[in-house]
Amino acid sequence: MNVYLAGAVNRQLEELLHACGLRTTLCSIEDLSGPSAQAVFQADVIVLDLRQRAAMPASVSLLKQQNPLTGVVIVASSLDPMLMLEAMRAGVSEFVTEPVTQSDLKAAIDRVAAKRPAPDPGQVFAFVGGKGGVGTTTLAVNVATTLAGIAASSTLLIDLHVAYGDAALYVGAEPRFSVADALEQVHRLDGTFLRSLVGRTKFRLDLLASSDRATVGPLDVRAIRGLIDCAARHYSHLVLDVPRSDAAMLDALELVTKIVVVANQELATIRSASRMAAALRQRYGKDRVAVVVSRFDQLAEIGHKEIERVMGGPIAQIFPSSYRLALGALNLGRPLVLDNHNKLAASFEGFARGLVANSSVEAPVQVRSTGLLGRLGLGT
Ligand SMILES: Nc1ncnc2c1ncn2[C@@H]1O[C@H](COP(=O)(O)OP(=O)(O)OP(=O)(O)O)[C@@H](O)[C@H]1O
Ligand SMILES: [Mg+2]
Repeated sequence: MNVYLAGAVNRQLEELLHACGLRTTLCSIEDLSGPSAQAVFQADVIVLDLRQRAAMPASVSLLKQQNPLTGVVIVASSLDPMLMLEAMRAGVSEFVTEPVTQSDLKAAIDRVAAKRPAPDPGQVFAFVGGKGGVGTTTLAVNVATTLAGIAASSTLLIDLHVAYGDAALYVGAEPRFSVADALEQVHRLDGTFLRSLVGRTKFRLDLLASSDRATVGPLDVRAIRGLIDCAARHYSHLVLDVPRSDAAMLDALELVTKIVVVANQELATIRSASRMAAALRQRYGKDRVAVVVSRFDQLAEIGHKEIERVMGGPIAQIFPSSYRLALGALNLGRPLVLDNHNKLAASFEGFARGLVANSSVEAPVQVRSTGLLGRLGLGT
């Protein structure tokens, strides 16, 4: 939780907040209004030290008028009736008085934090390949990089291959922590912990990378859902590179805005992608599932129409084949959309922008508890 401590008269409150495990930013009472107030609005809770003041500062009422959802806790020297009345009028109802203890302060902060509504989750886009090597990670990485470039957006790419995934390689990052750390400690997962695990790329994209150690035991669907839920609440866009051979992953996509199944022009892949898309549509609703074709070759024997016939529906996008460009970007660790001077990059970017514009979050459809992979009958 992100706490602002305003007007501290000494270091006691700061030390108590640290002892509660809360990340604390110091500011003055004057910072609560005026140009600096924007930063303060990012706080989950503001703790106001009024122990040496007899009246409510005007900046507090102003802050609550402008941003009524901001939680405020007042620390006062005593329960002064005048001060309490003024505080109530300003919309502040949590008081802690001297002697201030860690438990009283934490309890008051928890109460105001609990009253704050959870922010609306961001859009979540999941990418899964009909077979291995079709270009799923390349697509996920380029879509995520495009979304990260949209002004005022925050984007996280999660490589859900718990071990040995490639997404970090594609974005030139070497994060210290991984998706395995998040899933192993999902009970601790909040915005602060999540941000401590993610790595930053040079182009505003955050990454929760795959681990380079093998994981033990089966994955817990609830842990994956918990991770997606937490990440969606802290980022405006979340992009998931999903392993197709993991039933738990495919079973945990209820919060996803759009699931993109990636096919190519090989018969075996089209068949497998078609089965996968059908099962995902049945489970998550047909409007949530899109099929795209990667590495598209105009001269290939199986064309656009044939793929649509086998798929039983439209192809949302084709991405041209350019092995040289795709491999060059991978070797540099720099997604193609950052240097958008070719058809492949333009198709990635156009698709990403279309996803954001056309997707709306719908209510989850009927959820079944059986593993998807069993029903799909897919091999790796
Ligand atoms: N549009 C494209 N044209 C040509 N080559 C491509 C294209 N997209 C990706 N590739 C190349 O295909 C290879 C596999 O790509 P990628 O790792 O994205 O596939 P994947 O489906 O994620 O594979 P895996 O199943 O191993 O996770 C890489 O060498 C990549 O550079
Ligand atoms: Mg991949």
